[in-house]
Amino acid sequence: MKAIHLTAYPDGPPTPAHFALADEPDPVPGEGEVLVQVLALGMDPAVRMRMSENSRMGPPLALDAAVAGRGVGRVLASRHRDFAPGDLVGGELGWRERGALAAAALERLAPGAHPPHAHLNALGPTGLAAWFAIEQVAPRAGETIVIAPAAGAVGSLAAQLARNLGARVIGLARGEAQLAYLRTLGVESTDAEGDLAPLAPGVDIFIDGVGGPLHDRVLSHLAPKARVLLIGCIAGYNDAAPPRYGNAAPILFRRATMAGFLLADHMPRAAHARAALDAAISDGTLEPAETVWRGLEQAPHAFAALFADASPGKQIVILEDSMAETSLTYGEVPRPQIMPHDEVLVEVHATSVNPFETKLRRGWFAQLFPVRPPHILGQDVAGTIAEKGFDVAQYEIGQRVWGLLDPAKPGTYAEYVGAPSYMVRPMPSNLSFE
Ligand SMILES: NC(=O)c1ccc[n+]([C@@H]2O[C@H](COP(=O)([O-])OP(=O)(O)OC[C@H]3O[C@@H](n4cnc5c(N)ncnc54)[C@H](OP(=O)(O)O)[C@@H]3O)[C@@H](O)[C@H]2O)c1
Repeated sequence: MKAIHLTAYPDGPPTPAHFALADEPDPVPGEGEVLVQVLALGMDPAVRMRMSENSRMGPPLALDAAVAGRGVGRVLASRHRDFAPGDLVGGELGWRERGALAAAALERLAPGAHPPHAHLNALGPTGLAAWFAIEQVAPRAGETIVIAPAAGAVGSLAAQLARNLGARVIGLARGEAQLAYLRTLGVESTDAEGDLAPLAPGVDIFIDGVGGPLHDRVLSHLAPKARVLLIGCIAGYNDAAPPRYGNAAPILFRRATMAGFLLADHMPRAAHARAALDAAISDGTLEPAETVWRGLEQAPHAFAALFADASPGKQIVILEDSMAETSLTYGEVPRPQIMPHDEVLVEVHATSVNPFETKLRRGWFAQLFPVRPPHILGQDVAGTIAEKGFDVAQYEIGQRVWGLLDPAKPGTYAEYVGAPSYMVRPMPSNLSFE
C-alpha cells in the first residue's frame, strides 16, 4: 500500500523534495477500528505549522511516516458497531491509500447530492470556517468587507457568503489568475501586493487569514468602529519565528474591535451550518471552487501550491483508485421521497430575516423575504403544504404554514422540506410571504 511520508522538516516553504512516496504494510483493523479506503484528501495550510520540531499546533509530524491530513473515505471493513462497509467517512485519514483508524476518530458523512470531496471543502471545516467567520462579523448590506486571502479555500466561500448578504466585498489576492477568479464571483478584487487605494473610503470588516505586512497595510484603511477578525496568518507559517500580526495602533484610533477566531469553538453548531451550506450549493448561491490534483503522488505538489502559485479554491487530491466513483460534479438535492404517515412536505417560500440565528416569531412575519428553494434545513421557514401523510388531518394541501424544521433529520430538504406534522403551524391569514 502506498503512502506519502514527510522525510524532512522544511526550512521555508514546503516543496515536493520534503516528501516521498513510500510502501507501507496493508493495514489490518484491530478491535474498535475501521478499515478505510481513502477517496480524497484536502490540503490545509495549518498542517505546515506541525512540520517543525517546534510545532506551534499540536505535536510535530513524525518524519518517515504518512503525513497527517484530512480526507474522505469509504469503509472497507469495520470492527466497530457504528460503522459498516460502504459508509462514507471523514477525518484525519492521512496521506495514504488505506488506513485502520479508531472509530472515535471518524465522522460518518451523509451521502448527499454532492461529491464526497465536498466534505473537504464547502461541507467540511473549510466551509464551516467561512460560515462561522461571516456569522461572527455579520456583514450588513452596504458595508465594505475585505477578505484575505480571498481566492483560496476559506476566502472564496466567505467572499460569496458576504456577497449574498449584500455587502461590498473586496477580495485580496496575488496573481492575475486569482484576481480573475474573484471577478467571476461578482466581487471586487485587489492585488494584495499592490496599491490598496481601492479600499477607500474605509474598511468596515476585515477577515485576515494572511497576517504579516498585509495586516498592517489593511489596518491603515479601517473605517471608524471597524471589526477585524483574525483567522490565520499564512504569511508566517513558513517562518521559524512565531507568526506576527503587526501594529495595533489603528484599532485604538479607529475605535475598532479585533477578535480571534477558531473553528473548534463553533463545532457544536456545525450540523446547522453544514445544512445551510449544502442548500446554498444546491440553489447555486454558493459555488465551491477547487483545484483538483489526481493521484496520491500529487499530494506534495498540492500542499506546496498553498504557499506558492496557488490556483483558486481548495486544493483537493483525488486518489487514483477512487476516481471512477468520485464524480467532480455538484448536484441538486433530490426531492424527498419518503412520506411516513405523520409527515408533511412543506414547499418553502420564505425564511427568517437573519439567515444565521434569528428565530421566526409571531409578529415578525412582515419581515420575511422570499428565498429560492431549495432551502436551509433547521431554519425557521414559511411555506405551503405540498404533500401530507395519511395520518395528517389538520392540514390541507396548499395551506400556508410556518415552523422550525427539524435540523437533525437528514435528507429531507430540497425544494421541499419534510417534517413531522407537529413541527409546523398554520400561518395567520393576514400575513404575507413577501
Ligand atoms: N481559525 C480557523 O479556525 C481557521 C480554519 C481554516 C483556515 N484558517 C486559516 O485561514 C487561512 C486560509 O486557509 P485556507 O485553508 O482557506 O487556505 P487557502 O486560502 O486555500 O491557502 C492558500 C492561499 O493562501 C495565500 N497565501 C499563501 N502564502 C501567502 C503569503 N505569504 N502571503 C499572502 N497570501 C498567501 C494564497 O493566495 P494568493 O496566491 O492569492 O496570495 C493561496 O491562495 C489560513 O491562514 C488558515 O490557517 C483558519
